[in-house]
Amino acid sequence: MTVRTVIRMGHPTLRRQAEPYPLELIGSDDFNELIEDMRETLDATGGIGLAAPQIDVGFRIAVIEIEQTATRYGEIEHTPFNVYINPEITVLEDEAAGYWEGCLSVPGMMGYVERPQHIRVDYIDRDGNPAALEAHGFLATVFQHEFDHLDGILYVDRIEDMSRFSYEEEFVQFHSG
Ligand code: NI
Repeated sequence: MTVRTVIRMGHPTLRRQAEPYPLELIGSDDFNELIEDMRETLDATGGIGLAAPQIDVGFRIAVIEIEQTATRYGEIEHTPFNVYINPEITVLEDEAAGYWEGCLSVPGMMGYVERPQHIRVDYIDRDGNPAALEAHGFLATVFQHEFDHLDGILYVDRIEDMSRFSYEEEFVQFHSG
């Protein structure tokens, strides 16, 4: 198992539409290796989500894991490690809220993005079974951020007020109060 290199903004793979993952490959050695590598890479980087294109793999797969004590985002419900294959988002309520987002592919930066806060996610799980969940609040934002990567979209594309796009140090100094 390997910690993969996370590619950064400017790499063309981050701007491509990723391909649906072939379901017949779920459970294969290649699949298991990819998932374990994504898990190790996520752990090694301290991120909360990672999409396959971020390690230069052009498939529609993302992993998310939120530790309860995680990060700069404050108190967040613990979300165990999970794999989302070929996910589809349905917005259940349009009402949006904003969070400061960061991204392993845009290191050192943060930006304020508003997104719908009640969504449904339909996906294939790591055993190949269809699954669905609803997400609210910050978790809804995390799903939308990760799945945007599968469509070649970065959170920076969704910042409406560029005065709220900041280096992390300046975020702490000027925007986190
Ligand atoms: Ni990201």
